[in-house]
Amino acid sequence: MSDEVPVSMDPERLVAGKSQIEDVREVQLRPRRLDEFVGQKTIKHNLGVFIDAARQRGENVEHVLLYGPPGLGKTTLANIIAAEMQVNIKTTSGPAIERPGDLAAILTNLEAGDILFIDEIHRLNRAVEEVLYPALEDYELDIMIGKGPSARSIRLDLPPFTLIGATTRVGMLSAPLRDRFGIIERMEFYEQDELMQIINRTASLLNIAIEAAAADQVARRSRGTPRIANRILKRVRDWAQVKADGSITIPVVQDALAALRVDELGLDDTDRRYLQAIIQKFSGGPVGVDTISASISEERDTIEDVYEPYLMQLGFIDRTPRGRCATMAAYVHLGITPPQQANSAQQTALF
Ligand SMILES: Nc1ncnc2c1ncn2[C@@H]1O[C@H](COP(=O)(O)OP(=O)(O)OP(=O)(O)O)[C@@H](O)[C@H]1O
Ligand SMILES: [Mg+2]
Repeated sequence: MSDEVPVSMDPERLVAGKSQIEDVREVQLRPRRLDEFVGQKTIKHNLGVFIDAARQRGENVEHVLLYGPPGLGKTTLANIIAAEMQVNIKTTSGPAIERPGDLAAILTNLEAGDILFIDEIHRLNRAVEEVLYPALEDYELDIMIGKGPSARSIRLDLPPFTLIGATTRVGMLSAPLRDRFGIIERMEFYEQDELMQIINRTASLLNIAIEAAAADQVARRSRGTPRIANRILKRVRDWAQVKADGSITIPVVQDALAALRVDELGLDDTDRRYLQAIIQKFSGGPVGVDTISASISEERDTIEDVYEPYLMQLGFIDRTPRGRCATMAAYVHLGITPPQQANSAQQTALF
């Protein structure tokens, strides 16, 4: 096989923010209450206020939209809101609701106060979205009965409920849908000390012995993402067990991650291929994302959702109107000498 196989198809990619098969047990690691949830201070504070206010009034919380890169805790927060409000949560996803009838069945089964959690809400189709609008605004459901000339529309009252939508791509949400959320919160990458807290929490839940300095190393390589922090922790635990005496030390983290080809900033081969493509094939950019996508055989969506947010956060790439540019920091990280004569767009990115 050539090395052009899309790496995102590889379930083994250690630093992918997206959920993987081995993460299924992550449900056990999810914090259950708001005060156990580490980081995202603004969101936590805001949600705390909305939840208290709604509880005091005996009402349900307004519809909530949570967006941001994979693995930052959107599903976790949706479940926490339900736990704090002491209500049921029903979970589904955009692609799972194929027809308006599917949505009608879900909505008519809700009880007063329930939370409906729709993951990947940007993937709802238009016909389904249209049924959702009046449901969100007036708790009413218009459904068509029958077909042809005898078809008629009937209106059903729904119990008051809260929709929580989650998405990695808020830009793909239609404006009318976005406007119907009273609370819209953007999840941020986590700080180093927050990741340390998450790693220590997971280590104690799973009975993993880890030195503080080693936890710091794991946190630095976790791309600001709790899911990745937990995944790396489990991987280095295996390494500690087989190659050392079971406890996680700095050399264990370094050896394990060198073998797994994850560098000290959490970049893996795919990130490096992405940056190298911009730098070496397209002279540092600007280059369109479709061109990069074709060049490294990665899907455009994966590039935009998974790789770029963290590389932007590191300041390794700039998005300009003419495309992506690699910054000076990216050249330095990859050990590549920057060009002498940069063009103007590159110069903006480089300096
Ligand atoms: N603030 C946090 N504190 C502790 N652990 C967290 C936190 N946020 C997320 N996690 C951990 O990370 C894992 C992934 O979180 P979650 O599934 O909520 O992410 P997500 O944003 O819904 O991801 P996706 O976009 O892939 O659906 C959880 O199982 C949980 O263990
Ligand atoms: Mg989720």
